[in-house]
Amino acid sequence: MSDPEKPATIDFSPASLDRLFQAHRSEFDRDLADAHNDTGREAVRIKWLGRKQGKLALYSSGYMQQAPSPDAKKEVGRRFNELKQHVESRLEGLASGSQSETAAGEAAIDVTLPGMRRRPGAEHPLIKTMHEIVAVFEAMGYSIGVGPEVETDYYNFESLNFPPNHPARDTQDTLLIAGQEAKPLRERLLMRTHTSPVQMRTMERQPPPVRIVIPGKVHRNDAADATHSPIFHQVEGLCVDENITFSDLKGTLDHAMKALFGSAVKTRFFPSFFPFTEPSADVQISCIFCGGSGCRKCKQSGWIELLGCGMVDPAVFAFAAQKQPAYDAGKISGFAFGMGVERLAMMKYGVSDIGQFYSGDVRFLEQFG
Ligand code: PHE
Repeated sequence: MSDPEKPATIDFSPASLDRLFQAHRSEFDRDLADAHNDTGREAVRIKWLGRKQGKLALYSSGYMQQAPSPDAKKEVGRRFNELKQHVESRLEGLASGSQSETAAGEAAIDVTLPGMRRRPGAEHPLIKTMHEIVAVFEAMGYSIGVGPEVETDYYNFESLNFPPNHPARDTQDTLLIAGQEAKPLRERLLMRTHTSPVQMRTMERQPPPVRIVIPGKVHRNDAADATHSPIFHQVEGLCVDENITFSDLKGTLDHAMKALFGSAVKTRFFPSFFPFTEPSADVQISCIFCGGSGCRKCKQSGWIELLGCGMVDPAVFAFAAQKQPAYDAGKISGFAFGMGVERLAMMKYGVSDIGQFYSGDVRFLEQFG
């Protein structure tokens, strides 16, 4: 057989090219069969696929230079590509040659080769925080609900006692789906501004008692800055039964805040307003950074505002009663709350820029692994 490293001796007739390439192929197969471990296979890889001194590189330049005509170049090129494909796929553990294919034509996979190692990923800090919040309420007997991110005006606003044109809608401006002017207002679609619509969806599906937490993504026309993002996450809660009182609300949220931030944390409730709760409150926790003595994080007040809540407004029960008559405000009562996941996660992990959560920067995300 002629030595390919001295290509001057090659005869370029198709028959001798066939013989030549078949010989190369057999030589490679023998090399690979003789390699019994990773080191051996690596040596074969370098011998055949090495960029400069690999046999394929040498054949390619040697044969091509010597080919006497364009036709001969084509003949060489085709055989060369076949050989290269054979070498590459055998080295990858995939069969291309007929010897390494099973009768059914499936690629023979060497199951004794070591598997590919994948680096384990870490839960995203927002998902992690959401799971933690949900777990606190699950332990109190709450179940988990979800609802659509594209919502109707009815569920996002009207049934939660935001009538059309009510000024409370202004604080929750959002994206509206285009081209719906022909529909009645209540059927028009928008990106939900809070997870509260799932309160109504849940009550329409099931009579009281209800104890549910609802994690999810929400959208608002808010300019992005260090503490705002036009897309963020909330966990909503709803509890409805007979004789549910404001002290149940206080006890539940006080317990939840202690479970999330440590038992030393204190809570206090301030009057607030939401159209769908009456009375409404904002919940503050004692500053987890200074313990309440006053620092930069709590603007020297010793307290940090964390969530909104209140007793379910009878008007909301009246909307639910259109589908489930058991929501009779004379017989049942309930409370609801909603918290921002980003805000909680920023506090818990000392993150000062909300944008870090969405940057996809692995150096940031790795810290939560
Ligand atoms: N949905 C309110 C908001 O996004 C929060 C809230 C939920 C308030 C439930 C009271 C009860 O601002």
